[in-house]
Amino acid sequence: MDKIVLKSPLDMHLHLRDGEMLKRVGKYSFSQFSGGLVMPNIVPPVTSKKDLEAYRGRVLAEVGDEKFLPYMSLFFKSSYRKEFLKDLDILVVKLYPSGVTTNSDGGVVSVDIDEVGETLQAMQDLGIPLSIHGETLGDSFEREAEFIPTFELLAKNFPKLKVIMEHISDRRTVEILDKYPNLFATVTLHHLAKDRDDLLGGALNPHLFCKPILKTSKDREAIQELVFSGHEKVMFGSDSAPHQREKKESRNGSAGIFSAPILLEGLVTLFENFGKLELLQNFVSENAKKIYEISPPQKEIVLERVEKIVKEEYGGVVPLFANEKLNWSIL
Ligand code: NCD
Ligand code: ZN
Repeated sequence: MDKIVLKSPLDMHLHLRDGEMLKRVGKYSFSQFSGGLVMPNIVPPVTSKKDLEAYRGRVLAEVGDEKFLPYMSLFFKSSYRKEFLKDLDILVVKLYPSGVTTNSDGGVVSVDIDEVGETLQAMQDLGIPLSIHGETLGDSFEREAEFIPTFELLAKNFPKLKVIMEHISDRRTVEILDKYPNLFATVTLHHLAKDRDDLLGGALNPHLFCKPILKTSKDREAIQELVFSGHEKVMFGSDSAPHQREKKESRNGSAGIFSAPILLEGLVTLFENFGKLELLQNFVSENAKKIYEISPPQKEIVLERVEKIVKEEYGGVVPLFANEKLNWSIL
């Protein structure tokens, strides 16, 4: 087989940024995907209807004539009530514990029922899913595992609320997915393809520094096993998070891996290497359509078996797989 067609691929965790960066990076997502869930951690974060609509407008201006539907998200605040949420056009509310990642300082200080319960109740009543960056401020490699009791607490207390564990990276997180019918997960390409040895086993590679940090090869294998089991509660979300090269190659380096330019080529290469190509359509579109109950624009992306060496930089940002070889290309 030398040609693959993906139907309406979706990227359900995407940082499109704003301003100049949006102009530079948006096109990579708009051309490959038929829709994506746009994260709200711009500066300032998206917390009002006015900001939400203004940001959607700036994104759509960049989408131009491409067939791409931006699904918008709102940055979680414990002050949100039903009246406010009910007339917003959003797919999720995204909860960031305060300080755990880029532009999350305005997030929730303590993720407990007293603090977030009223808002979650309103979301559950309205049928708005909760998307979570699940990490504590503990040891870097334990942060996601330390957050597991919180995932469980929320899933248990709000059984009708869809809770999406974003960019899962730890084998212990995989174990709770099936314990609660209302728990779902996104998985990135980098957590499937790389582990902490790629980040710091040889020379330190700041372009592979992200939150949640890449874990052990065992964790990577557990994430692979989950995705390659064809699990229907798991969907693709790239967490493509561009930071300018100088911001990454710095003593104060920003967290985030930029994968947008090579996502589908990378996914097809990886799925084929594991002999699981037949599962890719579900992972990159059908599962998300069912979980979020969405019908994205119809779009077909054709990939051909043509090798490519990934460029070192796209618009001043170093991508995932820079200088590495992929076996498939969008021509
Ligand atoms: C993301 C970013 O830069 O916005 N960074 C990251 O390391 N993944 C934020 C996030 O999703 O955590
Ligand atoms: Zn993210």
